[in-house]
Amino acid sequence: MWLEYEPRSSGVNCVKSLYLSLKGFTKEHPIVANALTELERGFAGMLAVTKENIIYPLDEAKPPAETLALRLERDTEISAEGYQLTADEYSLSLRAADESGLLYGVFHILRQIAIEKPLAELTLMSQPDIKLRMLNHWDNLDGSIERGYSGRSFFFAQNKVLPYERMTDYARFAASVGINAVAINNVNVKDAATRLITPEYYSEVRQIAAIFAAYGIRLFLSLNFAASLELGGPQSADPFAEEVINWWQKQIAETYAAIPDLGGFLIKADSEGRPGPFTYGRTQADGANMLAKIVAPYGGLIIWRCFVYNCTQDWRDYQTDRARAGYDNFITTDGDYLDNVFLQIKNGPMDFQIREPISPLLGAMEKTNQILEVQIAQEYTGHQIDVCYLVPMWKEALDFVIGAGNDKVSDVVSGKTYANRGGIAAVANTGDDANWTGNDLAAANFYGFGRLSWSVNLTAADIVGEWIMMTLSRDEQVINAVSDILLHSRLTYEKYTTPLGIGWMVSPHSHYGPSVDGYEYSRWGTYHRADYLAIGVDRTSKGTGFSTQYREPHASIYENPATCPEDLLLFFHRLPYSYLMKNGKTLLQHFYDCHHEGVKEVEAMIAGWNGLAGQIDPAIHTRVAERFARQLDNAIEWRDQVNTYFYRKSGIEDRYGK
Ligand code: GCU
Repeated sequence: MWLEYEPRSSGVNCVKSLYLSLKGFTKEHPIVANALTELERGFAGMLAVTKENIIYPLDEAKPPAETLALRLERDTEISAEGYQLTADEYSLSLRAADESGLLYGVFHILRQIAIEKPLAELTLMSQPDIKLRMLNHWDNLDGSIERGYSGRSFFFAQNKVLPYERMTDYARFAASVGINAVAINNVNVKDAATRLITPEYYSEVRQIAAIFAAYGIRLFLSLNFAASLELGGPQSADPFAEEVINWWQKQIAETYAAIPDLGGFLIKADSEGRPGPFTYGRTQADGANMLAKIVAPYGGLIIWRCFVYNCTQDWRDYQTDRARAGYDNFITTDGDYLDNVFLQIKNGPMDFQIREPISPLLGAMEKTNQILEVQIAQEYTGHQIDVCYLVPMWKEALDFVIGAGNDKVSDVVSGKTYANRGGIAAVANTGDDANWTGNDLAAANFYGFGRLSWSVNLTAADIVGEWIMMTLSRDEQVINAVSDILLHSRLTYEKYTTPLGIGWMVSPHSHYGPSVDGYEYSRWGTYHRADYLAIGVDRTSKGTGFSTQYREPHASIYENPATCPEDLLLFFHRLPYSYLMKNGKTLLQHFYDCHHEGVKEVEAMIAGWNGLAGQIDPAIHTRVAERFARQLDNAIEWRDQVNTYFYRKSGIEDRYGK
């Protein structure tokens, strides 16, 4: 990842020894101990300052030349997890109110060295914009990872917890970008995973919680809402049934006694076959509150996902619209939730497509804590074979003005509006591959998620530049070439797959590669409804009414094809192939052309990457080149299948004879 600490030019930071002092913190605290170890590692690796040249405590006399005096000090005025850095000629001071802030400050110092910027520039105050910055692992206990594209799980195999070494490395790099909460098991909780809350796994889970806690990370578990039925409790999961409540009370008391550090539970209920309160005629709030009340005395949180929709739809049914479901299922429950319940809402109303409008549920519930959920794992965005840098997409979501007044999604999830609490969560893209993320370039998404969660105003370009400098090279040509590839990759992917917001058209189940009608006659509610004249679903007030779920001005903007952003045109409208786009082309010609442009852009990305041979680590260069070759095949397949499909369906030739 980015903590390799390879040697850096000592020209910028000519430090041969380090004088360290610690005030208000104790070296023995696990987080402090990790912060100090990280400093040692970083200074040794990047600046060749060996352990013998790190001196405690600081000699107050002026240190000799080429010595950095680093003062680590507690300062209770600083907000939780935040830190202040002050640099002068000979010294650097890092002040924080708590151990996590100290650790984050240390990572900031190391980042500054890694990107070869002078330590003397470090005078700043930093605090997280979003308080809960979480990763969700969809790891199963058998070692498989749902939507995992970088090997197997490093948490579990064969229903056992794996050795902790890799989890420790993971906690290091997660903390280095500010992650402070992690759920380790898949939201689809089945079989052995249901038993993670039982004595069978207590000692292992407690150990993981301790490793995480030493990096400022709270451990969460995904919970099976119907656990009582599977663990020998009452044969019901009705949140109003006394026997069910009693069973959970006992169960959770036992779990917290064994794992006191547990942050709480993540729950996928009434979703894609998972059990939930609807079965018993109760609301989502009834289900969430039952558990929230029980975990509250332990400081636990209930994170409740809003991915609730009818996944057994009849494709002949034109009334039901999956895009509406999240809002329809939750909006009436605003105000019903206990304080320690957080609703977790996917960025789009469907399911992590390459482009969707922002979910209208975000910001709509003024009395409810909300978490924005995004997906780092590239389920619909190229399986970490195709390069797809997702930070621009997440920024769009965070920057979207959604609330009453001028509130952005970032204000809602950072708790600035409505006095709610909030957070951000992402489905992780890591596995046991040696490079953690399959495609080396996919690590930029992990890095970017963390950095953006900490500072929502960073630009995608800033973050990508930082990542390149920390991992690949400080050479300007490399930085520019790789930035160019990453920053355009999402638009390129969109062009050769599903432009204009139509989405899907993807191979069923695997979700890699084209299959235009793959989901067309299925139960999943994801239809493009193409016929020989037109394509798309009318989601305006004259159609399914989805567009009316937005506040103004969005509702009106989306309602009319002339004002609807063109990249979302086919999400909101059903239009004839002859519809004229702003560029003067017909919709169909635009669609044809996009697919050709997309393939050309992949070729250009490959040329850009090939041009870097000899300038970056050859092993990385080769690995990525191999993935690019597969991406090109994939892009060609998408282009030709999609364009041929629409040519056959419409009988309309490509204007340029392509
Ligand atoms: C998608 C994905 C599933 C996942 C689900 C979820 O539908 O394909 O594998 O379980 O999202 O977010 O729960």
